[in-house]
Amino acid sequence: WWDHVGAAPKDPILGVTEAFLADTSPRKINLGVGAYRDDEGRPVVLQCVRGAETKLAGSQFLESLPNAVNTKLVEESVQLVYGKETDIVQERRFAGIQALSGTGACRLFAEFQRRFYPESPIYLPVPTWSNHHNIWRDAQVPVRTFRYYHPDSKGLYFGALMDDIKSAPDNSFFLLHPCAHNPTGVDPNEEQWREISHEFKVKNHFPFFDMAYQGLASGDIDTDSKAIKIFREDGHLIGCAQSFTKIMGLYGHRVGCLSILSVDENQAIAVRSQLQQIARAMYSSPPVHGSLLVSTILGDSQLKALWEEEVKAMVARIIRMRAKLRESLEKLDSPLNWEHITNQVGMFCFSGLSPEYVDHLARKFHIYMTRDGRISMAGVTTSNVDYLANAIHEVTRF
Ligand code: LMR
Repeated sequence: WWDHVGAAPKDPILGVTEAFLADTSPRKINLGVGAYRDDEGRPVVLQCVRGAETKLAGSQFLESLPNAVNTKLVEESVQLVYGKETDIVQERRFAGIQALSGTGACRLFAEFQRRFYPESPIYLPVPTWSNHHNIWRDAQVPVRTFRYYHPDSKGLYFGALMDDIKSAPDNSFFLLHPCAHNPTGVDPNEEQWREISHEFKVKNHFPFFDMAYQGLASGDIDTDSKAIKIFREDGHLIGCAQSFTKIMGLYGHRVGCLSILSVDENQAIAVRSQLQQIARAMYSSPPVHGSLLVSTILGDSQLKALWEEEVKAMVARIIRMRAKLRESLEKLDSPLNWEHITNQVGMFCFSGLSPEYVDHLARKFHIYMTRDGRISMAGVTTSNVDYLANAIHEVTRF
């Protein structure tokens, strides 16, 4: 039956973890997958999560969620993006559904997009999280791209980005990262977001935001949803995928939310029912425990405040490591400019290292990262940063 099935290519991100695990060197460092680590390199369970576990202990039934929706999780998630007082929350002008983290939210949206706009492609930034391509491809939505990052400046390619928005056919779907762009760590500033939003209005493009890092760019939850709020002020109907994977350290729990704004409550009800039907055929309903942890944290002012402090602490550690890595490279008299390490934000540094350099780092120094040169800064610690800087210097100095 399966003679014609060849092995699938390795995932460019998860494949890095496999290679790391297979390496027996005690010096090895995993800078591949974006997963937060403490300064000892250990995974972290946030105290707010422990607090929610205690609060929930023994109190829940284990029924599946009716119609795939933990209403409290969805409401809290939408408020996290748009704020508590906005009209969309009060007038219930959003269709929201719990999703299997960010990937699941994107997949549901891709399916929904194909169902109701079967001819429309999705425009993805260059570069973007590699899995975005898989998700929309598997939903049979044609994928187009728009320019985003400039390799020379290691910053935003704003002029080209605006040109590509203008030259896309009217009414196109665009995927945007509202903060802590993955993989580049390069975000538009507020003024640039305003220009982007304005041009979307002119062209009547649909903005779909994949928000996997709210809080992890600036350290502040509200600040990091600024881009979406700008689009909201301009009157866009917005799609938003939210993930609690990184921002609450719930990697294995797969908690997320997909929300789509609508013109009124009736439209929201119709859209939500379609999303529920899509989820029903794919996996029926999502797991409950992680979503209860999230809704408990967001619904409890003390746990929420604790969470916000813990987000700040994660960001502060990453920023310290950025500064230290740059400083170490500069102390080694690296002939290259490393300013972008501290200019970029969020979990990743798009180092500019070529695939050949990346391979060399793995072979000679047991340092693993994706071949596009993305460094997960969360894997950098006080005790490995000098070793990393030395290794980067060794492979790039000639
Ligand atoms: C990453 O980009 O490393 C994360 O989003 C994790 C993943 O699943 O790819």
